[in-house]
This record gives sequence, C-alpha cells and structure tokens, in this order.
Amino acid sequence: DTRDPTSLRTPIVAVLGHVDHGKTSLLDKIRGSAVIEGEAGAITQHIGATAVPLDVVSSIAGELVNPDDFDLPGLLFIDTPGHHSFTTLRSRGGALADIAILVVDVNDGFQPQTLEALDILKRSQTPFIVAANKIDTVPGWNPNEDTPITATYESQSDRVTGRLDESLYQIIGNLSDEGFSADLYWRVQNFQRNVGVVPVSAMTGEGVPDLLAVMMGLSQRYMKEEMEIDVAGPGVGTVLEVKDEKGFGTTVDMVLYDGTIKADDQIVVGGQNDPLVTDVRALLQPRPLAEIRTESRFEKVDEVGAAAGIKVAAPDLDDAMAGAPVRVVRNRALEEVVTEVEAEL
Ligand code: GTP
Ligand code: MG
Repeated sequence: DTRDPTSLRTPIVAVLGHVDHGKTSLLDKIRGSAVIEGEAGAITQHIGATAVPLDVVSSIAGELVNPDDFDLPGLLFIDTPGHHSFTTLRSRGGALADIAILVVDVNDGFQPQTLEALDILKRSQTPFIVAANKIDTVPGWNPNEDTPITATYESQSDRVTGRLDESLYQIIGNLSDEGFSADLYWRVQNFQRNVGVVPVSAMTGEGVPDLLAVMMGLSQRYMKEEMEIDVAGPGVGTVLEVKDEKGFGTTVDMVLYDGTIKADDQIVVGGQNDPLVTDVRALLQPRPLAEIRTESRFEKVDEVGAAAGIKVAAPDLDDAMAGAPVRVVRNRALEEVVTEVEAEL
C-alpha cells in the first residue's frame, strides 16, 4: 500500500438546516460530547468546526466503514445556525464546504431555512445528502441505539415503517419540487446525479453509521481529486470568528482549507479596511474531537494541515473580519499575497 494519507486533505462538511431540526445534536452524537448543553438557548450562534478522524468515523460506522477502503484522513464538520437571522453564517458555512448534510426533521418537513440552505447549496454547487432526522419520534418507534438504518427498520412494525416512509417520500417530493432528483440513499447509484436521503436519529444514533458511510463514500469517490491539493503549500483559509482570548489578546478562529500554517509563518488577514500583515505568535488547536467554539484548553502546535479548525494568535488582529480570507506568505512575495487577499474582500 503506497497511499499516503497525509497527502489528501480532510473534506469539509457543512451541516445546514432549519432551526431545531437537529444539526448540533447530530454532531453531538458524532463527537459524543454535549456542546448543545453549553449553548445559549440551544441556538447555535456561531459556526464551529469539529474534526473527526477516520478511525473515529470507522468506529462509529462499524462494518459500514472499513478504514482500509479510504485514504482521506477523516471529516471536518462545520455546524451552522438554523435561526432565520443568521443567513450570513449559513452562506459562509456553505461556501467553505466541499460537501454538505442538509438536516430535515421528518415530522416538520421542509421549512423556510431548509429552502434557504438548498439555495445556498444550489448556488455553490455543493454536493449534499439529506439527513431525515428524528425518526425515533415516529409514534410506536422501537429504538435500537446506534444501529444502521436497515437493521432498525426491520425491527419496526409495518404501521411504523409505513408512517416513516410517508414522511420520507414527502421530503423526496419537496426535493423534487426544488429541482433535485432524490431517493432513499440505498437506492441511489450515482450520488452526483441524485440526492441520497438518510433516515437518522441524533437522539438514538440510528442511521448515524449510514450517514458517515455515505459521507465518506461521497468524498472518496467524487471529491478525491479536489482533495489532492498542494498539501505542504502556504495555507489558505477563512476567518470564522474574531475573539479575545485570555493571555493571547485578539485571536482569529479560522478554517484552513488548503495547505499548511506554521507557528512562525507570516500571514495576511482580511481586515475592516485593509489587509492586515502579521506574524503568527501561536497556533492553538482544539483536541481532535473537541469543538473549537467551546474548547477552552488548546494545545499549542507547530503546524497544521488542511482541513482544520484552528485558532491563530498574532499581534494586530483587532481589525480582522469574520468571513475574510487568511493567507500564509512563507516563500511567496508579500505584495502578491496582499493583492490576493484584497481581491477576495
Ligand atoms: P439551531 O442550531 O438552533 O438551528 O438548531 P439545531 O438544528 O442545531 O437543533 P438542535 O440540535 O439544537 O436540536 C433541537 C431540539 O431537537 C433539541 O431539543 C434536541 O434534543 C432535539 N432533537 C434533535 N435531534 C433529535 C432526534 O433525533 N430525536 C429527538 N427525539 N429529538 C431530537
Ligand atoms: Mg445548532
């Protein structure tokens, strides 16, 4: 096996959908932590990034994901808020993503921000799958914790599966109305042409193995070439948030989607007025399964590679702007990099 897992970057997966349809809960289930508990009113007000390494994906997905079949390092999930007032954060998440999960509550069906998210995905031509969430709330549901969907489906009564099917076909119909040909994921042959619908429960974990398997399969099969970037090149990313961090002053939380960033790199960051040129003082990384937003203990690292959520401490970041580009200078001409950042503002 000559494949080098470090030569492919981690695909970025945006999680989008209407308020309360279960985006954060789904990620919570995946990372096994309780970010949701610490959120103001359980509404996600900021984009967060969570890295899930391949071995963790595989341990959750069980026999559906054999790590030997994949050479992508894992998945980087970006949570976005569903509340109607956070359109900018949703578009930012959508624009960053290689692939996306559109979360739809099976009982609630399509809602205004479901349609808005679909529009974002349409415009950015981001391949996506639909997680039909909260299947455990179908009356009479017999929960089977953390099992693949086919296994749990078989243990339900005909009346229950009939009810679920009805809701799922409603969602498939809604997708069709929006111009997407969709079907239950196990019937989809070509995920580039058809949208796969995966029934899941963020509460019981049913269908979560399937969701991860489909995301891995999608990334590996259709995105692999795009993941084969100049992995060691000067990093490129986007600012998610500008934050004061005790002991570090103003820092930026960013998603690095190309190349690397090192603790001694010079960087150019999009600012309120002009691009800011500064030197990295520290790269602060949340632990592998932690959520950058709520993580208070960071590990200082010398270097990170795409894709990753990373906090950058550097002087003169006060005017840095959420949504703005970040570019590493390294062996490139500073003026050239400044011009590129200016052009993206
Ligand atoms: P915003 O970030 O505000 O857009 O919401 P969200 O999509 O992140 O929803 P969140 O994960 O906060 O879940 C909203 C509510 O639905 C919470 O009370 C969850 O416990 C509940 N919920 C989420 N997923 C499931 C599920 O699969 N089953 C059940 N029964 N409840 C769920
Ligand atoms: Mg949320």
